[in-house]
Amino acid sequence: MKIAIGCDHGGFPLKQRIVSVVLSTGNEIVDCGTNSSCSVDYADFARNVGETIVARQADRGILVCGSGIGISVAANKIPGIRAGVCHDIYSAHQAVEHDDINVLCLGARVVGEEVAVDLVRAFLAAQFTNEERHVRRLGKILDIERDAMNGHFSRRLFNANADVRNFSWSWAVASELESRNGSLFSTMEIWIADRFPFSGMS
Ligand code: RB5
Repeated sequence: MKIAIGCDHGGFPLKQRIVSVVLSTGNEIVDCGTNSSCSVDYADFARNVGETIVARQADRGILVCGSGIGISVAANKIPGIRAGVCHDIYSAHQAVEHDDINVLCLGARVVGEEVAVDLVRAFLAAQFTNEERHVRRLGKILDIERDAMNGHFSRRLFNANADVRNFSWSWAVASELESRNGSLFSTMEIWIADRFPFSGMS
């Protein structure tokens, strides 16, 4: 397999050891940075690894930050990425066998180097079982991703806050959305739903 590896400065001390384990088990490395202990932002490296996987330039990924948490949260924002923090051996293989995770996240400040080596080995050796119940559950995760990409949750979030007291907050978020996706319509829709909750815009 090709394994995309990424870390922030907190994860960097563990990175070279993990690279050598990946290579020694017959896998290839796609290095997504960072490559020093200088302070960086974990989301950038979660994005690098996630994009590499969804572009099919790697089969799986390993991400390392201080706790494993921030980098997993960021990676899971990318549709198609299923990242899990696994600091025990059972989870490191079960998360692939049942949940089909494609990114293992580790906290270099949480686990020792030798434990990390075993976690990486367990992750790399595991395969998804393809059992019906796990396939069904993954299908429901895909449903969530599809709904998120269609704006389902954004509209519900804003409608749930359709209250004059929340108007400034909602407007700020709507403006942010507009600047991100360039959609004046969605911004207006949110604005109308916010001011006139019974307008039918939902
Ligand atoms: C960096 O200091 C640290 O916050 C980061 O590596 C990570 O632990 C975040 O979840």
